[in-house]
Amino acid sequence: MSNDHTELLQKVSLFHEVDPEELSRIAGILSTRDVTKDAHIVTQDEPGDALFIIAKGRVKVSIYGDNGREVILGLLKAGEFFGEMSLLDDLPRSANVIAVEDSTVLILKREQFAAHINVSPATALNVMAELSRRLRRADEIIGNLATLDVYGRVAHIMIDLAKKDGEEVEEGILIRERPTQQDIASMIGTSRETVSRVLSEFQKRGFVEMRGREILLSRKFAGEVAGQSES
Ligand code: CMP
Repeated sequence: MSNDHTELLQKVSLFHEVDPEELSRIAGILSTRDVTKDAHIVTQDEPGDALFIIAKGRVKVSIYGDNGREVILGLLKAGEFFGEMSLLDDLPRSANVIAVEDSTVLILKREQFAAHINVSPATALNVMAELSRRLRRADEIIGNLATLDVYGRVAHIMIDLAKKDGEEVEEGILIRERPTQQDIASMIGTSRETVSRVLSEFQKRGFVEMRGREILLSRKFAGEVAGQSES
């Protein structure tokens, strides 16, 4: 089991450039949890005492607005991590983290994380780099919410997904496991019906092709949306 973990940890950006001996020590102390689709792994406002690495599956990071509407802050997949914020600032969990499919997470407890950081400054730098990436993305989303209409926002989220999870194919870029229309709506502050309408319009214009859970972004998509203006 510990060997399986070592192989996975080598691919996790959190441990980039960590000494191999320290990496296999960490692999030996991690515990594993299997979670079923829709299970809460982390709950907003609860105290946090562990960091999680996704070994298998996908999760969403979300909060609930005052009107009870879910706002999705991010989607994370195998190899990515979450739960670091409470360990760093000692405050309650900033958001909920919910499995969007059956998943497996590896758990590193607060004391284990602290001991590891003490001997491995590379990990501290990797955490900072990831926080910086997430802040850049959040800045971009705030900018988009303030300046783009729903067409622009849907287009941007598609490009975001394509950059993160897209696969180059002959006809364009294929996103294999696209989020549901409800999840896309919760990422850009609109309703499922609106997302459905916008995606149908994009499909009619040949920008995207919906194929069940897959979505294909055509080659002309990126060029056309670059010209999208304010509403
Ligand atoms: P923590 O606050 O301990 O628990 C919730 C976790 O969600 C948080 O740590 C981060 O790991 C993660 N998280 C919070 N905001 C974002 C975001 N905007 N993008 C990606 N992950 C996030």
